[in-house]
Amino acid sequence: MTMDSVNEEVEATRLAFREGMSRLAAAVNIVTTDGPGGLAGFTASAVCSVTDRPPTVLVCFNRSSSVAGMFERNRVLCVNTLAAGHESMSRLFGGSTPQEDRFAVGDWIVGNTGSPRLVDAIVSFDCEVENAIESGTHHVLFCRVIGIAHGTDDDEALVYFRRRYHHLK
Ligand SMILES: Cc1cc2nc3c(=O)[nH]c(=O)nc-3n(C[C@H](O)[C@H](O)[C@H](O)COP(=O)(O)O)c2cc1C
Repeated sequence: MTMDSVNEEVEATRLAFREGMSRLAAAVNIVTTDGPGGLAGFTASAVCSVTDRPPTVLVCFNRSSSVAGMFERNRVLCVNTLAAGHESMSRLFGGSTPQEDRFAVGDWIVGNTGSPRLVDAIVSFDCEVENAIESGTHHVLFCRVIGIAHGTDDDEALVYFRRRYHHLK
């Protein structure tokens, strides 16, 4: 096997994985932080529950993203789960836009950890980062939930599925 054919196989496997993951419907969140490392936020679908004893969620993010160093320094974050009306905010926080421009949109307040909380999120989890591991290109943060804020029961969810946004009642 030549080096070229090995690289081609790795790339084919990567693309097949991405195609597979595009079929896994996911809630859309804006994960925020603030502190000595600075104010930052990014759109993330790679968020899930780990355990309720103690309440813990995990968040995965790319180590090469502009926000990575800020999360590592601050060690606090808030997971803000988006409602159907937040699609444009999801795009805004989804890359390329400077951090200060991202927070110019939306109604934000400071949560207990100092991380920005989106007032009309479906739910927000204010967290302290307990552990971090590296896996391939990504950091996986294990986050202890220290505060939860709910939206209303009428909120529709924003869901990402097959590379498009959908609304869920
Ligand atoms: C729907 C959606 C889901 C995303 N999920 C993640 C994720 O789980 N983890 C991640 O690192 N980036 C994710 N991204 C990309 C980040 O939001 C983006 O890389 C981040 O804003 C940093 O961009 P920057 O390096 O240009 O600042 C997602 C983007 C979108 C639009």
